[in-house]
Amino acid sequence: MVLTSRLTTSEGRSVSTKGKPRRAESAGPEQPGSAPAAGQALNRQSAKIPTMPDIENPSQPEPPLLSAARGRRPERLPVWFMRQAGRSLPEYRARREGTAMLQACQDPDLVTELTLQPVNRHGVDAAILFSDIVVPLVVAGIDVDIVAGVGPVLSNPVRSREDVAALPELDPAGLQFLDTAVRQLVAELGTTPLIGFAGAPFTLAAYLIEGGPSKDHALTKALMYGRPDLWDELLSKLAGYASLFLRTQAAAGASVLQLFDSWAGALPATAYERYVLPYSKRVFASLDDLDVPRIHFGVGTGELLGLMAQAGAEVIGIDWRVPLSQAQSRIGPGHPVQGNLDPAILFADWPVIEAAVREVVEQGSTAAGHIFNLGHGVLPQTDPEVLTRVVELVHSLPAP
Ligand code: CP3
Repeated sequence: MVLTSRLTTSEGRSVSTKGKPRRAESAGPEQPGSAPAAGQALNRQSAKIPTMPDIENPSQPEPPLLSAARGRRPERLPVWFMRQAGRSLPEYRARREGTAMLQACQDPDLVTELTLQPVNRHGVDAAILFSDIVVPLVVAGIDVDIVAGVGPVLSNPVRSREDVAALPELDPAGLQFLDTAVRQLVAELGTTPLIGFAGAPFTLAAYLIEGGPSKDHALTKALMYGRPDLWDELLSKLAGYASLFLRTQAAAGASVLQLFDSWAGALPATAYERYVLPYSKRVFASLDDLDVPRIHFGVGTGELLGLMAQAGAEVIGIDWRVPLSQAQSRIGPGHPVQGNLDPAILFADWPVIEAAVREVVEQGSTAAGHIFNLGHGVLPQTDPEVLTRVVELVHSLPAP
């Protein structure tokens, strides 16, 4: 399969020429890495080693994102955006036309193309797999759909003992498309890291129980507080889903893993500690043997940051509500942080955006490491040119 034609940028990075070319001014200290042919089977190690010996650069420098995730200070501050692939991009809207979201997520060629779009356009420091947190539920045979403008919706929510018992374990055989997509992507991306991800047990449970997005998560909390035995059975299964989904991506070459616990902010700290943290810990512990940095992110989790930092991830994602300086004192020393520009600030005039970007960079400068990102996903109405400009600005600032 030939996905795209390729060229090598001035900084030696192999990029796709499909769509808008990657901007040359986003050049950074990355070094040449010859990307193997798309579709070629790779393991994690070989994906990072050039196939041709590079005499001028015998030791391949670590990509900035991996350095920062490992608590180092790379020469250039790494930046990517949650939901960087998606409706803010006209090329995404054009390519997705006529294909349902969950169908797109299971088509390795389409996943590859959609994942690469924002990397090629913005020159971000990482790709994030084009998928969704409910994809493992689909693979498990659960009837779930993603409704435009609404989010995931289930026809038969999980609310009784029978419902929980009927949830199957995730069958690795059903994840072939994921393995293929990740291998293709790693081959296409060359030295740019691919972030794999999964939804955390609590956030998956919230969708399963509510049957769709919810403001108060009342049904989820009712089951959590009222039926701890059922809750344990459900979250144990979902921890298994998340773990297998993440391991599959790492085995195929993803070099960072992010666990999204988007709705954990709905809980008080005491409930989070008792009913959620043990299961997120289980997911991270199951990945301990992999040499892959992990990111843990939730929305509205300012009050939970100290506990979330105990779950086992190296990097803690901070949403836009808590300044990075305060977040650091809540999570304690030693954890790199990711975040946290308010996505809505991108609708302001450029001088306002620039000042806000500089402030986030400044506040992140005292952390063990900093990956620049938004404090939640890119909003669909965002002007993609502004995102590219933010990447250029972050890359142009002297690394703290
Ligand atoms: O670029 C990337 O970040 C990778 C792709 C990605 C998607 N979903 C694609 C998507 C990622 C990382 C996700 C994760 C996800 N999905 C989360 C965790 C992150 C977060 O936002 O907190 C959650 C809670 C979901 C569930 C979900 N899926 C929601 C709430 C929605 C939005 C509904 C809407 O239409 O506004 C989706 C749909 C979705 N996931 C879209 C995309 C590109 C839009 C659907 C489309 O393009 O047709």
